[in-house]
Amino acid sequence: MRVPLIAGNWKMFKTSDEALAFAGDLARRVADAESTEILLCPAFVYISPLVQALRGSGVKVGAQNVFWEDSGAFTGEVSAPMLKSVGARYALVGHSERRQYFHETDETVNRRLFAALKGGLVPIVCVGETLEEREAGKTAAVVETQLRQGLKGLDSNQALSLVVAYEPVWAIGTGRTATPELAQEVHRSIRTTLGNLFGPDASSQIRILYGGSVKGDNVDSLMAQPDIDGALVGGASLDAASFERIIRFKR
Ligand code: PGA
Repeated sequence: MRVPLIAGNWKMFKTSDEALAFAGDLARRVADAESTEILLCPAFVYISPLVQALRGSGVKVGAQNVFWEDSGAFTGEVSAPMLKSVGARYALVGHSERRQYFHETDETVNRRLFAALKGGLVPIVCVGETLEEREAGKTAAVVETQLRQGLKGLDSNQALSLVVAYEPVWAIGTGRTATPELAQEVHRSIRTTLGNLFGPDASSQIRILYGGSVKGDNVDSLMAQPDIDGALVGGASLDAASFERIIRFKR
């Protein structure tokens, strides 16, 4: 059984006071939500205080990115051992905003993925097509290439500690969600690709999250799909009540 994972991606939002107030509020709201794994990915600067504020709550904290070297003269970068040392458990890798604005490629995704694994972080590798690619009928091919290149060199054992997030670029922050059927179709093909790469055992255990305008009013129908194992939530994770509603999805 794949334990559902609901992950909030705060992107570049919230001040320190807002982040801490949210943590207290969320911890109270979801104290009894034990069947779902809950993760918050704030800006790097809030990881340590949030880990402390959420200790004992069951809400985990992760990073929005991770550099591929452990240490060195790389001004402005943050490494997996650093993240691990402050209590981060997960790291997003290859979010579409990183690909779009910061020259992330499948090759750098691959380097970050291995750095995360080596450092003891669970990588959440993000894939997804643009609107142009979808309209050209290239969705399956684009996502398959992102997976094959991004996960290159990974073995079946390592694949067990992997999470994949399917985030169609045209659905991120736009209020335009993929229909549950559309999302399921891509999730199914992602699982098929994972099966081809890592075998049926691993592929049946890897969680595949959906991301892109997930809200309280669409999460239930998305989570009802057989290959959707959780959600990566941007905008709706910034408000504790709306994030709680998503965490309390009904299948
Ligand atoms: P959104 O963002 O929920 O605001 O669309 C999702 C994401 O970028 O992870």
